[in-house]
Amino acid sequence: MGFLDRLFGKTTTEETVNMTKTAIVYYSMGGTNYQLAQWAAEAAKEAGSEVKVIKAPETAPQAAIDSNPVWRAHVEATKDVPVATPEDLAWADAIIFSVPTRFGNMPGQMKNFFDTTGGLWAQGKLANKAVSAMSSAQNPHGGQEATILSLYTTMYHWGAIVAAPGYTDAVAFAAGGNPYGTSVTVGQDGKMADDEAAIKAAVHHQAKRTVQVAEALKNLNA
Ligand SMILES: Cc1cc2nc3c(=O)[nH]c(=O)nc-3n(C[C@H](O)[C@H](O)[C@H](O)COP(=O)(O)O)c2cc1C
Repeated sequence: MGFLDRLFGKTTTEETVNMTKTAIVYYSMGGTNYQLAQWAAEAAKEAGSEVKVIKAPETAPQAAIDSNPVWRAHVEATKDVPVATPEDLAWADAIIFSVPTRFGNMPGQMKNFFDTTGGLWAQGKLANKAVSAMSSAQNPHGGQEATILSLYTTMYHWGAIVAAPGYTDAVAFAAGGNPYGTSVTVGQDGKMADDEAAIKAAVHHQAKRTVQVAEALKNLNA
């Protein structure tokens, strides 16, 4: 490939085939986790990965969505985001999840999506993927950590490799220091109550690390 092609970001077919593939699967009612997913996508692309941002299938009735103007506006604003399918998970080498807490657990929408992955699991197609998760809650101790761990429980059953950020970079400390995955507190107004730049930096680090772990696992999956 020539210098100009590289300069303009063109990739050869061979490079595209070898690129690490990252699926960023989120659920959001008010937009916070969609934002975390967008930040993760930026960083995964910077890390040289092919990226899909996809949303967990909605299970709530339309009447419930319509009864909440914030929720309805978010659904409308993200109507073009593709809905996640089990095949997207099989496609990915790295998977990053982002969900709001629901009483310390993942939302039913994400759990429902996980419950459609039995066929892939039975074929071993979810094993050895690098995964990590992010979360949000309305209170500083409202269940962020427990929610991320609830996601990881399913990951262990898949045989995925949890690439939690731990304290592998100092950016974690400014973002609240959650070693399980980046998390944020959301005020009653729906806005992030933490330092957004610090959260963004922690999400970037987490996403890059998840992609790097997926790259390191390629031999295992060859
Ligand atoms: C059914 C339900 C349960 C929730 N449970 C909690 C909770 O236990 N603790 C908490 O701090 N926030 C709780 N929240 C608030 C959400 O976690 C918060 O609105 C969300 O993190 C915002 O993310 P989003 O903008 O991506 O939707 C709950 C919200 C709903 C709708």
